[in-house]
Amino acid sequence: MSVPFDDLQVALDRLDRLPKQERAAAVQVIHGWLATQVEAEAIAEDELPSEFGMIGATPAMKQVFQLLGRIMRTDIPVLVLGESGTGKELIASALHEYGPRRRKSLVAVNCAAIPANLLESEIFGHVKGSFTGAHKDRKGFADAADGGTLFLDEIGEIEFDLQAKLLRFLQDGEIRPVGANTTHKVDVRIVAATNRNLLERVQQGQFREDLYYRLAVMTLELPALRERSDDVRHLVRFMLVRQGEDGMPTATISDEAMEVLCAYAWPGNIRQLQNELVRAATFASDGVIQVDDLSDDVRGAS
Ligand SMILES: Nc1ncnc2c1ncn2[C@@H]1O[C@H](COP(=O)(O)OP(=O)(O)OP(=O)(O)O)[C@@H](O)[C@H]1O
Ligand SMILES: [Mg+2]
Repeated sequence: MSVPFDDLQVALDRLDRLPKQERAAAVQVIHGWLATQVEAEAIAEDELPSEFGMIGATPAMKQVFQLLGRIMRTDIPVLVLGESGTGKELIASALHEYGPRRRKSLVAVNCAAIPANLLESEIFGHVKGSFTGAHKDRKGFADAADGGTLFLDEIGEIEFDLQAKLLRFLQDGEIRPVGANTTHKVDVRIVAATNRNLLERVQQGQFREDLYYRLAVMTLELPALRERSDDVRHLVRFMLVRQGEDGMPTATISDEAMEVLCAYAWPGNIRQLQNELVRAATFASDGVIQVDDLSDDVRGAS
């Protein structure tokens, strides 16, 4: 595949036609091109540490925000990668809420939570009588998201057969409800997320290579919180204020307690930090979180 290209969509369409063995290299080329686009924009020193409703001042997060801004107005499918609790779902809502599709629905499907035999009908709908219990025609999540965004969370858990149907949907925008003879077009932007190593699953034969490369063209990788520890103090301030607004226990925080939070590795990432702050605010006796109010795990590491 030759770059530069003016339009990512063109590159995507071309990617589908490439021989299998050339796809990985082509995706690398596209990523390289995107990286140069990101570097081309200067990052202002005095920028607020928040964009698209997300906190982040570290270079890694600024890169995420810039990429987000760049792809916001497109319909290109996005694959969001990152450990549990790093903000993958928040990225999906940002893509929807700040993009041109915001007036239509964002429909989130947790692919890991729906039994495999029901997932196809949940996404694509079904016609009456297509399986036991299908008493009437029913539209699926893809139809519900028409004009908007379909967020396929935990996409790594989808079974092989359904992966092929998803790929077809990504390629031509058509869906066939379970049991139907006809297809119809649906206009959705797909955002997929996983905390799994999808490439490893491809190598293990559990995830289709063609679907992987189709999704991997536009990958947003969220760094673990331990790789952006300079963001912890911003997140803490942001979350303590938000807790108060949401009617949850809140407090201010001592410098010492803040230092302990900044030094901790946060294996559960931002979600764990959030839970820790609710807990600590509940224990804070005089409205100020002290080191003693933090959980043993967090304190023990310091
Ligand atoms: N950059 C951020 N700024 C502010 N809040 C954030 C940020 N990233 C994540 N959060 C908050 O942290 C929590 C976890 O985020 P989210 O649910 O998006 O993570 P996730 O990667 O989808 O997690 P999981 O893999 O467990 O589903 C949410 O309450 C979210 O609002
Ligand atoms: Mg999630």
